[in-house]
Amino acid sequence: MAVTAVVGAQWGDEGKGRVIDYLAQQANMVIRFQGGDNAGHTVVNDFGIFRLHLIPSGIFNSETQNIIGTGTVVNPDSLLREMAEVEKAGIRLDNLWLSERANIVMPYHVQLDGLQESARGGSAIGTTKRGIGPAYADKAARWGVRLGDLRHPEWLRERLEQVVPRKSVQLERYGEPPLRVDDVYAQCMDWRARLGHRIIDAVPMTREAVEAGRQVLLEGQLGVMRDLDWGIYPYVTSSNPTAAYSGAGAGIPAAYITRIVGVVKAYSTCVGAGPFPVELLDETGNKLREVGDEYGATTGRPRRVGWFDGVAIDYAAWLNGFTDLAITKMDVLDKMPELKICIGYRLGNEVLTRMPDTAELEMATPVYETWPGWMQPTTGCRSWDELPAAAQRYLLRIQELAGVRISWVSVGPERDEMFEVE
Ligand code: GDP
Ligand code: IMO
Ligand code: MG
Repeated sequence: MAVTAVVGAQWGDEGKGRVIDYLAQQANMVIRFQGGDNAGHTVVNDFGIFRLHLIPSGIFNSETQNIIGTGTVVNPDSLLREMAEVEKAGIRLDNLWLSERANIVMPYHVQLDGLQESARGGSAIGTTKRGIGPAYADKAARWGVRLGDLRHPEWLRERLEQVVPRKSVQLERYGEPPLRVDDVYAQCMDWRARLGHRIIDAVPMTREAVEAGRQVLLEGQLGVMRDLDWGIYPYVTSSNPTAAYSGAGAGIPAAYITRIVGVVKAYSTCVGAGPFPVELLDETGNKLREVGDEYGATTGRPRRVGWFDGVAIDYAAWLNGFTDLAITKMDVLDKMPELKICIGYRLGNEVLTRMPDTAELEMATPVYETWPGWMQPTTGCRSWDELPAAAQRYLLRIQELAGVRISWVSVGPERDEMFEVE
């Protein structure tokens, strides 16, 4: 069970950061395998409260190597700011590494993200405006600049001579001034001075750990419903949060990944546009948002909130091949007298139990079953047996819908407010 992928099973913000911080206590290595600083992974532990965007959530364990992997896109300014915050809390960063093959999110990507969102008008995706889409688009179109390029100034200069004029053309179409190669180069040289010693060929270190059978965690960003291929396209991110990509993004052969943990919030939330059939636009939704403190860790936007979606969990479990589930935020439901679980989508005269694509999902309405709440605190529970009977029944229903064993339950944001299900 040496290599474990830990991924979001819903629309993101399931609590991946807290689950990885918990599991990383036993891990030798944590690798972020996709996404960029659009992620907001909250970790609450003895060192403080952190909202990590790029730094892997294993950073609080000095023995754990943390790699920002090849499949990510890295905004160096954002990373440097985050490193300063973490260091201020007394965390040493000797164990933080960046894959030389990861693409850089350049300032012009951030600029273009904002401009493209405005141009979409009423059909905006609601991105985090971190430049993620434009950076992955350049990567795929082979106009990207990679972290490793910073280590080779001549090569970098040649790349920039090719890339920057094209970006200027793109910006000028939006009425923005052109870029100067010299300025971009100088910016890159500054990043080289500050980050160069951490930029490595991550393959030898990763391979050595995997071949020695050490515990390696692959940290995902977002969740399957925003996956570029399998999510609610076009209201998706520009990478693949599903576990199948974890090996590619981290540089580990798929066959070595023997455990796939789906992080599942006990209800649903999502940030940004797109169909979200279980959404609650009433007082119950407001209550869940306030009790669950459902505000975006990256943008501060209020999250859209809804009942648990059993169709989405079945879809997530299949596509990811979950071996285990980690359920988070059970305590947020403690004061709900009644709970609903979506078990199908009504579409015309049909009730679907499979996840339809976006155009159909837009028209779907949820079919619910109702479960009694437990109306007592769960935060103090540290074992399955200590959970109220109604909470156990609710979890067993989720387990049944997913067809995957619940191996951990989280009942609060602190590191020790989580337990393993024996
Ligand atoms: P991530 O992006 O998947 O890492 O999740 P976020 O950090 O964006 O959002 C999860 C939020 O829920 C954070 O504020 C966590 O501190 C908080 N959280 C995680 N697990 C629990 C839990 O079991 N109970 C409560 N009350 N909060 C939790
Ligand atoms: P974590 O890792 C929740 C959403 C945005 C938008 C869509 C595309 O903390 O779960 P992007 O900036 O990626 O181009 O935006 O994806 N989104 C997230 N929603 N949690 C995140 O990260 C997100 N990262 C992006 O709101 O709908
Ligand atoms: Mg988040």
